[in-house]
Amino acid sequence: MTTKLIALAGMLVLSVSGLALAETAGTTIVPQGQSAGEGAAASGGDAAAKPEAAKPEAAAAESKPAAEGAAATGAAAEGGAAADAGGEGGKAADGADMAKMKPDAHPSKDTETEGNTPQLSDLGEYKDPAGNPTYLIDSAGKVDWYTWRGYKKYMANCMQCHGPDGLGSSFAPNLTDQLTALSYYDFAGIVVSGQQNKWNPSGNSVMPAWGDDPNVMCSMDAIYTYLRARADGVVGRGEPKRIANNKEAQDAEYKCLGF
Ligand code: HEC
Repeated sequence: MTTKLIALAGMLVLSVSGLALAETAGTTIVPQGQSAGEGAAASGGDAAAKPEAAKPEAAAAESKPAAEGAAATGAAAEGGAAADAGGEGGKAADGADMAKMKPDAHPSKDTETEGNTPQLSDLGEYKDPAGNPTYLIDSAGKVDWYTWRGYKKYMANCMQCHGPDGLGSSFAPNLTDQLTALSYYDFAGIVVSGQQNKWNPSGNSVMPAWGDDPNVMCSMDAIYTYLRARADGVVGRGEPKRIANNKEAQDAEYKCLGF
């Protein structure tokens, strides 16, 4: 926990303020994968018809590291899932239903490389065998508190650009796809420092730096965990049901926020 905070603080120093840039970009933001009637946050019906407009093909291709060929990705995922279910990936935390947690063929990078066997860590947070934040899903399909909290924090801080449920918009990429290429540390680094113009090299594609925003920094693991579950295909759209409240973790978040 302490080392992670130090790592995040280090990244904070590197952070550049992309917020102002993003606000001036003035791009119409239309969520993808949205059903009719859900569009309160969206603007402009026209752009909805061509949601990929802001995403050049070259950038989309580049986002998948060449070293992990598409065919190999699927095979590795199957192997990893089987190993985990068989208990080789470490002992799963009590209550985890590995059948309900079986990732789809193109899981998040951490799940592909480390598996998704949840091990109980501090404050009721779950970690994969490599120590990356991960989710726990029980046999009723309910999720651990961090995954649920991550949904809430995603909706409050990321949804306006990245669309409901992480599915992307005409302005910002689909994070359930992108986590297939980003590890937790890649993800945290981008969230802390921002990123510009990978998705639109001609300009105006700005991911703000959140390194000085406690609303995001105090919930980095939760947001990642939720998106990881979405990327792995084990949590559907909308608000997941949580197994139980976690007062300890909620208090830690409030303390981090200065309440
Ligand atoms: C103001 C709009 C906006 C908000 C709010 C926003 N993002 Fe982004 N984000 C973007 C844009 C635009 C990009 C693409 C940047 C580029 O082209 O390099 C992006 C890129 C990213 C990427 C990198 C994806 C990739 O593989 O290139 C991650 C990860 C990410 N955002 C996570 C988040 C998270 C988590 C939140 C909420 C805490 C968030 N974003 C909030 C606009 C936003």
